[in-house]
Order: sequence, then structure tokens, then C-alpha cells
Amino acid sequence: MGIAVGFMHLRSGWENMLRSSASTEKRMAKGIRTRSVRADDVPQIVAIQESIRQKKVSRKWAQMVEGYLREQDKVGFVALRGGRIVGFIIGEIKGEGFGLEQSGWINWVGVHPREMGAGIGQALAKKLFEFFKKKGILDVYTAVRWDAPDMVSFFKSIGFDRSTFINLRKHLD
Ligand SMILES: CC(C)(COP(=O)(O)OP(=O)(O)OC[C@H]1O[C@@H](n2cnc3c(N)ncnc32)[C@H](O)[C@@H]1OP(=O)(O)O)[C@@H](O)C(=O)NCCC(=O)NCCS
Repeated sequence: MGIAVGFMHLRSGWENMLRSSASTEKRMAKGIRTRSVRADDVPQIVAIQESIRQKKVSRKWAQMVEGYLREQDKVGFVALRGGRIVGFIIGEIKGEGFGLEQSGWINWVGVHPREMGAGIGQALAKKLFEFFKKKGILDVYTAVRWDAPDMVSFFKSIGFDRSTFINLRKHLD
């Protein structure tokens, strides 16, 4: 099992993707709107995560996401149907590090199983890319498990490809 780091340059990746598929807004399910994520959205984000994983999410995970959303440079969007959150994307701007200058990162993305496949994930990614672009950030990274074909396929669909990073791991006995 491993994790692969994906990369997208916003000028080539996202715009090519838009050219090659129908407009995301048109494709997205009717009755869905998006807005910026807030720390008090975390209980609904946790509920979506639990529906996806079909198991309880730890309190630590919920606290981590909530703490994370209170920090500066963290950004995200939620998709709502009738006031209920049905999808989320959370990212950040990282300063210099890993040999990069500023870069955008996608840390978590999830769509409620009942709403999957209707363009919500793509629409949320688009919001995040627009945010990064406004901040002058054109390179976006994420990491996915290579044995999660739905996630790999999703990220490919929004213009990601393999990055120049490899993930290294050492297990401490
Ligand atoms: C991956 C995910 C974020 C995508 O959001 P979505 O709203 O369902 O996706 P979209 O409708 O925007 O689909 C965009 C593209 O992603 C790809 N895709 C999405 N779901 C897919 C799936 N289950 N299998 C293969 N490809 C998939 C397709 O290429 C799709 O384009 P297409 O519909 O033209 O074929 C969402 O399905 C999800 O949350 N999945 C569960 C993720 C997970 O297991 N998380 C656990 C670890 S945190």
C-alpha cells in the first residue's frame, strides 16, 4: 500500500479539463450550491466521512479538522443541498518547503455517497482552484493512495498527474 503525490499546474491542468468536458456548473446536480467552509461545519463533514467510510470517525480526526479550519491559510468549500452539506473540499497554501515556493494543496475531499458522480467533487475543486489562482498560486498538489482507484480517477479528471515527489516512509519499531 502506498500514497502517491499528485500535481497539477493550474494553467494547463484545469483549463484543459474544462475544454475537454461539459461545463461543471451545467453538469452539477440541480439544487446544489457552494460556499466557503467554516469550523462549525465539521459535524456535517464528519457525518459525510462516516457515510463514505461506513465507520465512525475518531474524535481526534474531527478535532484536527476543526482546529485546522481555524488556522490561517486553510481554505475550503462545501456543497449544500437544501441547507445540508453534501460535499466538502479542504486545502491550504503551504509556504516554502519540500523544495517548493508557495504551493496549493488539497488535503481532504469527500462527497456523500448519495450525491457521488453528479459533478459535486469537480465543482468544489474548481472553487478551490479559483481561490489559489487569485492568490497567484498555479501549482497544486495532493496525495492519494495508489490503491484507491476512484480517488486517482477523480484527481485525473480534474487535471492532476504524477508529481516530481516520491513519498518516503520509515516504520519505527
Ligand atoms: C472521489 C470523490 C471526491 C469525487 O466526487 P464526485 O462528486 O463523486 O465526483 P464527480 O461527479 O465530480 O466526478 C468527477 C470524475 O471523477 C471520477 N470519479 C468519481 N468517482 C469515481 C468512482 N467511484 N470511480 C471512478 N472514477 C470516479 C470520474 O472520472 C468522474 O468523471 P465522469 O463522471 O465524467 O466519469 C467522491 O466520489 C468521494 O468522496 N469518494 C469517496 C472517497 C473516499 O473513498 N474517501 C475515503 C478516504 S478519505
